Amino acid sequence: MAHRSDMIAEDILGYLKAHETKSLLRFITCGSVDDGKSTLIGRLLYESKMIFEDQLAALEADSRRVGTQGQEIDFALLVDGLAAEREQGITIDVAYRFFSTDRRKFIVADTPGHEQYTRNMATGASTADVAILMIDARKGILTQTRRHSFIVSLLGIRHVVLAINKLDLVGYDRAVHDGIVEAYAEFAKPLDFASVTPIPMSALRGDNIIEKSARTPWYAGPTLMAYLETVEVADGAQDGPFRLPVQWVNRPDLDFRGFAGTIAGGSVRPGDRVKALPSAKESTVRAIVAMDGDLPEAVAGQSVTLTLEDEIDISRGDVLCALDAPAPAADQFQAHILWMNEQEMLPGRTYLMKTGAATAQATVAAPKYAIDVNTMEHLAAKTLALNEIGVCNLNLDRTIAFDPYAENRDMGGFILIDRLSNETVGVGMIDFALRRASNIHRQALAVDKDARAELKGQRPAMLWFTGLSGSGKSTIANALERELHAMGRHTALLDGDNVRHGLNKDLGFTDADRVENIRRVSEVGKLMVEAGLIVLVSFISPFRSERRMARQMMAEGEFVEVHVDTPLEVAEARDVKGLYAKARRGEIRNFTGIDSPYEPPEAPEIRLATTDQTPEQAAEHLLAFLRENGYLA
Ligand code: ADX
Repeated sequence: MAHRSDMIAEDILGYLKAHETKSLLRFITCGSVDDGKSTLIGRLLYESKMIFEDQLAALEADSRRVGTQGQEIDFALLVDGLAAEREQGITIDVAYRFFSTDRRKFIVADTPGHEQYTRNMATGASTADVAILMIDARKGILTQTRRHSFIVSLLGIRHVVLAINKLDLVGYDRAVHDGIVEAYAEFAKPLDFASVTPIPMSALRGDNIIEKSARTPWYAGPTLMAYLETVEVADGAQDGPFRLPVQWVNRPDLDFRGFAGTIAGGSVRPGDRVKALPSAKESTVRAIVAMDGDLPEAVAGQSVTLTLEDEIDISRGDVLCALDAPAPAADQFQAHILWMNEQEMLPGRTYLMKTGAATAQATVAAPKYAIDVNTMEHLAAKTLALNEIGVCNLNLDRTIAFDPYAENRDMGGFILIDRLSNETVGVGMIDFALRRASNIHRQALAVDKDARAELKGQRPAMLWFTGLSGSGKSTIANALERELHAMGRHTALLDGDNVRHGLNKDLGFTDADRVENIRRVSEVGKLMVEAGLIVLVSFISPFRSERRMARQMMAEGEFVEVHVDTPLEVAEARDVKGLYAKARRGEIRNFTGIDSPYEPPEAPEIRLATTDQTPEQAAEHLLAFLRENGYLA
């Protein structure tokens, strides 16, 4: 076999051409370095000759110098060496390696096996067709094997190889192998894999990796390479109904309107009847436009542009579906969520949700339960921490088309993004839509906000006071309300301490509870604004994200953010309620400014420095603002 690297150098076009026609298999290896994972990957890369000459020379030299294999090549050094290069600065630690044989090309996702790295493994698993579970024959099925199996099944991988490795260390004993196969079959039953293929091997000695080993005469199955080259992995998406999430609408001129995207399910031909979701408009496919002319058919995985017979309104994020088997559409879901961020998931917070093509704002409810990844047990949970998996309901601001993840990974998978930091904080898999949403409709009210405001002769608004405990929010809000009241204005004051005695009695001071605290008070405040009142909200409200949410719930100009900007030292020196002293003594935990964060507003409508004015002066300042901006007209 010629070194492929030679071929790349000498005949790059020929090399690429040969590649185009080969199918691609994506797989993931699960296990820790101790299981021989690096050795296995190193050997696959080596045997497929995808290693460049200079790397090879270095590998041979390194093997002699630091290797653990005497004069032989230590393949683990190859993979570990590549890993070390990469490790700087990458948080999601998944290495994708590419290699190919004459029959197929491969992308292998290599992820660290340690428990903390659930998110890395999930990242690698989300696109893989096959998972290789590394088992050390001396140790058998371990907790880590169970964890990996669960994540692999959760992420929709249907085919598993049980790589029963290090068989040389148990004398190629068939009984050991069979015992492991039996134990695994029992455990994996509920995981519902389409196939589990045990392969006895020694990655180190090369048994049953590329060539059949004479040392396992009792084994009649394929070598690992033979398996990888031939396994059929159609994941059902191709056989399923047609789905095209529209990535963009291509409209170069008035005569052409194409809908471009990657087909996420089934196949399509000109003449097929389709339905656009969520609008439910119907049409017929006119043509499948591709780079080198129109196609007679296109299937899942292909990127295409479709033109339709009718002018129907379709925008980015919509999904074109087979008319006779359209995707469901909904705005509330149950989903499995894997949390990937250092900061825990905050139920009640709104995250950006991205599915195949659509983007929505999603509010995550408290988990119904979390799942112990080692035992698959359900655990009670209020939130999800880094690497935890749970089942939650999600509430979207719009209707999206989807398929359950179990039926279609592209149509049912999503990521959650923090709206302020833009970080990907979670990945999710839609289980099913919640029906209740579609049964509730908004009731039109005869007397609306404007009518009520008119009667009261004022412009309703929400004045949102935010600042540290003891900053003076309540005192200033009180003084302002007294003035407004004396002027005959209709007001309400929502104060954190008071609301926490009633409506929010059940909430404490964890981040998650504070998010919920603010969510509720925003809703209540909004109702009061709708009643025509000038509402003063006085809550620490430490997070930008929730203050922004409150702002977005209100109409333009209705939300006035007031930052009561008192430095921590000053608030602490005042310590009216003695809480700072307690917090410093460690008697109360999660105290804002001490061991719980406060995120000051970046662009409040009003900033009040309380060190150089009295509460009455601050109230006058606010009153002037209200007057000047027409709230009291
Ligand atoms: S918020 O952060 O959720 O917006 P909120 O304004 O409702 O807080 O309640 C803050 C009030 O609760 C403070 O003024 C203080 O009197 C009291 N409190 C008790 N424990 C804490 C704590 N750990 N952190 C902050 N405030 C606390």
